[in-house]
Amino acid sequence: MATRSDGPIIEVRDVVRTFGAVRALDGVDLAVEPGIVYGLLGPNGAGKTTLIRVLATLLRPDRGSVRVAGVDVVADPNAARARIGLAGQFAAVDAFLTGRENVEMVGRLYGLSPRNARQRADDVLERIGLTRDAGRQVGTYSGGMRRRLDLAASLVGRPEVMFLDEPTTGIDPRNRLELWDLIEDLVAAGTSVLLTTQYLDEADRLAARIGVIDRGVVVQEGTADELKDAVGGSVLELVVPDGHHVRAMETITAATGEEVLELAGRRLRVAAREGSRTLLEVVRALDAAGVEADDIGLHKPSLDDVFLAVTGEPTGQDTDVGHDIDDPASTVAGDRSRGRRG
Ligand SMILES: Nc1ncnc2c1ncn2[C@@H]1O[C@H](COP(=O)(O)OP(=O)(O)OP(=O)(O)O)[C@@H](O)[C@H]1O
Ligand SMILES: [Mg+2]
Repeated sequence: MATRSDGPIIEVRDVVRTFGAVRALDGVDLAVEPGIVYGLLGPNGAGKTTLIRVLATLLRPDRGSVRVAGVDVVADPNAARARIGLAGQFAAVDAFLTGRENVEMVGRLYGLSPRNARQRADDVLERIGLTRDAGRQVGTYSGGMRRRLDLAASLVGRPEVMFLDEPTTGIDPRNRLELWDLIEDLVAAGTSVLLTTQYLDEADRLAARIGVIDRGVVVQEGTADELKDAVGGSVLELVVPDGHHVRAMETITAATGEEVLELAGRRLRVAAREGSRTLLEVVRALDAAGVEADDIGLHKPSLDDVFLAVTGEPTGQDTDVGHDIDDPASTVAGDRSRGRRG
């Protein structure tokens, strides 16, 4: 694997990509240092997959420049492809081949000899915990197994940069933890990883830096702690009796002027810039209004709070979005972001 002395491994400048009237990317700037996991967060439709597809040479930007591992992705997509691996949001594997054959095939596409391809395939299948099922046709795999296979296939070429689009969506907790270990091992071995996720605990655990993307623009950037600090102060979480939430919300905003971050059933989350002083104000105001809280507590902001504060939306689960209706570039061989969801 080539080692790079300095400078960002991924450099995106003012990238715009539209689909008809939709500005999926609306001037994205991003610089990712080598040797880390960079987490990309954002609500459904924010442009995460589109950005990954641009970075992975599967989609041409309308405007802007994109460099990956020192290569201009738009000018020299072939050179870029030799350095990157991609595991997509929609696992693309051949259902008629066995797991091992799928991975071997990708190895062959990367130019490995049959013998090496076989060896690498066994290697990554073992890492990904699929050795026992490697001889079975992929058509018989579960969704989570397909996604793991997709990831295994993308590792065969020992890429310098890995793009992982929601790598653990739909994967059970045990395998998720194993994938996290695998991603950490990858980075320890020198691969740089850009990953998107809807799981904020995943970003918190894996990502050295995080970018929050919303409506095609990177709106926040930093370490998890920096992002949490930017929310400011603490967060007050309270549970009120059934039917009291609207009254509680009105009382709290009137008394503190603080923003209600989230209102979900009986649970309210409120920014508490003044910490325990806000807590006291809230307790007094609720008492005066005759609303009794069942539970009330202060905590440090979580990445969920960052997400809510920045995008105004709770993290959603992946919703299917458009599929390359107008995009000739999407027929590129090895487009791993297409195909059926695993
Ligand atoms: N091929 C396409 N044709 C038309 N519109 C598209 C296409 N690809 C993406 N879009 C639109 O671009 C926007 C960004 O989509 P994108 O898939 O990048 O979002 P995302 O952040 O990955 O969302 P999710 O969290 O749901 O995966 C959306 O409005 C989507 O509908
Ligand atoms: Mg997506």
